[in-house]
Amino acid sequence: MGRVAVVTGGTRGIGRAICEALQADGFTVVANYAGNEEKARKFTEETGIPTYKFDVGDHEATLAACARIEEEVGPIEVVVNNAGITRDGTLMRMSYDDWTDVMRTNLGGCFNMAKAAFAGMKDRKWGRIINIGSINGQAGQYGQVNYAAAKSGIHGFTKALAQEGARYGITVNAIAPGYIDTDMVAAVPENVLEKIVAKIPVGRLGHAEEIARGVAFLASEDGAFITGSTLSINGGQHMY
Ligand code: CAA
Repeated sequence: MGRVAVVTGGTRGIGRAICEALQADGFTVVANYAGNEEKARKFTEETGIPTYKFDVGDHEATLAACARIEEEVGPIEVVVNNAGITRDGTLMRMSYDDWTDVMRTNLGGCFNMAKAAFAGMKDRKWGRIINIGSINGQAGQYGQVNYAAAKSGIHGFTKALAQEGARYGITVNAIAPGYIDTDMVAAVPENVLEKIVAKIPVGRLGHAEEIARGVAFLASEDGAFITGSTLSINGGQHMY
């Protein structure tokens, strides 16, 4: 059995591609999801990867679910914090719930998963925590003060936790995807998206698999000396 890797938001989009890439590399993969039962069932049917339903933004639920995963599957050695939501709108139109929902899921989820897995990784002297940030956390984005703040927070979280994990063989890194052809990006109004794509030097949206290969590399033994870093995979849209 390969090392156990838990991918949050793993049944769709970038998360699904990450699950498949890690599985192909020999990891024993577990996917978390929050709501879409039908997609999760189909995902397991097609990949053989088990799913665990819990809200990564809920601290207690995350700790309990991770304890169950460790009991039923094995010690969690790789965490991929991929679960994320958008509640786009200009500040003037953004509600407080739009703010807290995004902070709680996108940034709080990273804290909750790390709390669940870090002690075991420390005891075993090996771990990989890979956080999915965003180009919009690096550069900001009109209509996303919540999402940009949470994703930017992920980049700070990564660098701080990397310093704590280094002496225990735990690497902590982030990937900052640009605009990828997923449901999340498909929800951006067409006229707005056209303008965004026009600014991508490579001239197209990215593919989920292109993010997944980066995650697989960071999770591998080859990534042992990379920690606290952010890998931007964005077609040249933001060079940082
Ligand atoms: N900079 C400056 N002005 C802008 C602007 C920008 N980037 N984008 C829009 N505006 C202006 C518009 O030109 C418009 O001005 P006028 O009224 O003078 O024409 C005004 O702001 C209002 O724009 P909208 O008509 O778009 O306003 P809206 O309230 O209908 O929608 C919005 C606002 C919801 C933010 C919409 O613009 C939107 O969805 N934008 C896309 C946000 C985005 O990129 N989200 C990324 C989602 S994918 C993701 O997050 C994954 C990832 O990690 C990359």
